[in-house]
Amino acid sequence: MPWPYRLRCFNCHTHYPTQTTNYRCEKCGDPLEVSFQISRRKIPWKNRALSVWRYRELLPVDNDRFITTLAEGGTGLHHCPRLGREIGLKRLYVKNEGENPTGSFKDRGMTVALSKARELGKRKVVCASTGNTAASLAAYSARAGLTCIVIVPEGKVAAGKMLQVMIHGAKIFLVTGDFDEAMRAVVALTDRRKGFYLMNSLNPFRLEGQKTLAYEVCDQLDGEAPDTLVLPVGNGGNISAIWKGFREFQDLGVTKTSPRMIGIQAERAAPIAKAVKGKQDSIQPVVNPQTIASAIRIGSPVNWSKVLHAIKESHGTAKTVSDKEILAAQRDLASKEGIFVEPASAASIAGLRKSRELGRIDRSDLVVCVTTGHGLKDPSVVDRIRHPESYSLNITQPDWIERLERVL
Ligand code: F0G
Repeated sequence: MPWPYRLRCFNCHTHYPTQTTNYRCEKCGDPLEVSFQISRRKIPWKNRALSVWRYRELLPVDNDRFITTLAEGGTGLHHCPRLGREIGLKRLYVKNEGENPTGSFKDRGMTVALSKARELGKRKVVCASTGNTAASLAAYSARAGLTCIVIVPEGKVAAGKMLQVMIHGAKIFLVTGDFDEAMRAVVALTDRRKGFYLMNSLNPFRLEGQKTLAYEVCDQLDGEAPDTLVLPVGNGGNISAIWKGFREFQDLGVTKTSPRMIGIQAERAAPIAKAVKGKQDSIQPVVNPQTIASAIRIGSPVNWSKVLHAIKESHGTAKTVSDKEILAAQRDLASKEGIFVEPASAASIAGLRKSRELGRIDRSDLVVCVTTGHGLKDPSVVDRIRHPESYSLNITQPDWIERLERVL
């Protein structure tokens, strides 16, 4: 059973029944959020294995029988001393979300949102996606036997993600234009047809699953919160959810502090970073956003108000990186630490390097970079690898072993 929780507007705090399927406030239009009543309670999960559902009491699904799981969460928090030395950090960790069942952090949110959808009696679930949300929703819908509809921008989703969506049997609708177009379609569809349940990060229950990343990081660091958390930002659901998680752990007394949240965007898809730089209270959408990191190719992030709040409250910031910097960071992390992530995820490493160079992060800081999706999802990057270490080998030549040794 979860601890008592309520559903309220993020902005004006108007309360809604917890069984409502609305995701926006009827009064002011802002997104809703789940709010748990956290007075200093006794922690019941100490002896449970690391996973999303370890934190059952802080997940808003009332009845266990609706839980749909593929064993999500419990991802590695990897100390990266080699990359850390190069960037000039003593304590650099990577929280590798590519280790989730469908290869991205979306599974944390999806296990909770899908379980909630079943509890609410929903049979048809729908999302707009740059690929990972769709892959995750398709898998969890298949597991639960629900009808899954995904709306994606045609020709702009990485091949691995499309493969996942197809193999799990989702109904795929392709829109011309970019992700923002697909998102508009999903909002309009779910507004007009109540039978379709929205599973994007506007869904407050999904964000509750995603906040568990913060809990896990603190538990993996033996009750210490990092000084700085760096992650890529697209729609902004993840950074908002993770910030909420850190705040809840601090409110519970598990941790004494919460980290600065640093969001990274691609140069030509950076409405959040622009708003932060200009000290604005709202964002200006980017028309026709561009980046090789297709997962975060988003011009009009639906959770912008939550993101700006998380950055402000945590004394964090948002920065941009170029595609070149993203690809270099992807290769660095893979070749120096053995962690292969997709371009959007590598943006966090690229952004960290840049922030260090600009002196925005202290050498002794405990820094956690979140890598959000697995590298195999986007094989198109292979064409961008400039100097692959590959040589032809003819083992009919008597000196082939010497030749092999010569290039080492
Ligand atoms: N990293 C990856 C690998 C993603 O797939 C996404 C978002 C993000 C970062 C950004 O997260 O939107 O919560 O700020 N992907 C969404 C999708 C949009 O459809 O898969 P965010």
